[in-house]
Amino acid sequence: MTRTLLSRRYMLQSLGLGTLGAVGAFATGCPRTRGASLADGGSGSASASPTPLAPTIAIDDGDAPPPLVCSSPTADNIEGPFFKAGAPWRASIADGARGLMMGIGGAVLGSDCAPIAGATLDVWQADGAGDYDHTGWKLRGRLTSDKHGRWHVDSVVPGNYLNGSRYRPRHVHVKLAAAGYRPLTTQLYFPGDPYNKGDSWFEPSLVIAPEGPTRDTPGFWGRFDFVLESA
Ligand SMILES: [Fe+2]
Repeated sequence: MTRTLLSRRYMLQSLGLGTLGAVGAFATGCPRTRGASLADGGSGSASASPTPLAPTIAIDDGDAPPPLVCSSPTADNIEGPFFKAGAPWRASIADGARGLMMGIGGAVLGSDCAPIAGATLDVWQADGAGDYDHTGWKLRGRLTSDKHGRWHVDSVVPGNYLNGSRYRPRHVHVKLAAAGYRPLTTQLYFPGDPYNKGDSWFEPSLVIAPEGPTRDTPGFWGRFDFVLESA
């Protein structure tokens, strides 16, 4: 099944967060053929300081995510060292964190492409400068998919951070759990990040599909649909 795109505005409206635009609708059957990269000015050099706060998004065809195939479960990815259990229940996790505005969402699906309602998503990420909140709950939150399997998080675009001798690509950590399905721990990546290539854990199928405004717009909006394996 080819991934269908859910309007960001529709998601915001449906969740009572619709202050950013008019009501949209499901746009079915739209192929994901175009990617957008964040204009971060990254040089690809491990010694360069990442500059994640540039206020524009540039069109880029690189790292276009593949079409969704529900028979293929979402790939897992390392948990990393910065997970903290017990994050607050909320879909808006920025808490004034540094970084460009970001809205990401999509659906949680089974291997038959049926939506999974009530799935728990535990989300954590770095801020726009690449820092995690180790003492509080900034940029951490738990939420559940709605009756249509939809999820959405309002946040900021994560920055790159140094891991050993090189920067990691921007990513958002997610743990998913749903009754009757195998738990999943993974990371979502961003199209066009210069550090995607060569990263030890980057996985093309985990790239978020960009949506909405893609030129001269301060922020990033994208869609990712999770596919869980039956337990
Ligand atoms: Fe991380």
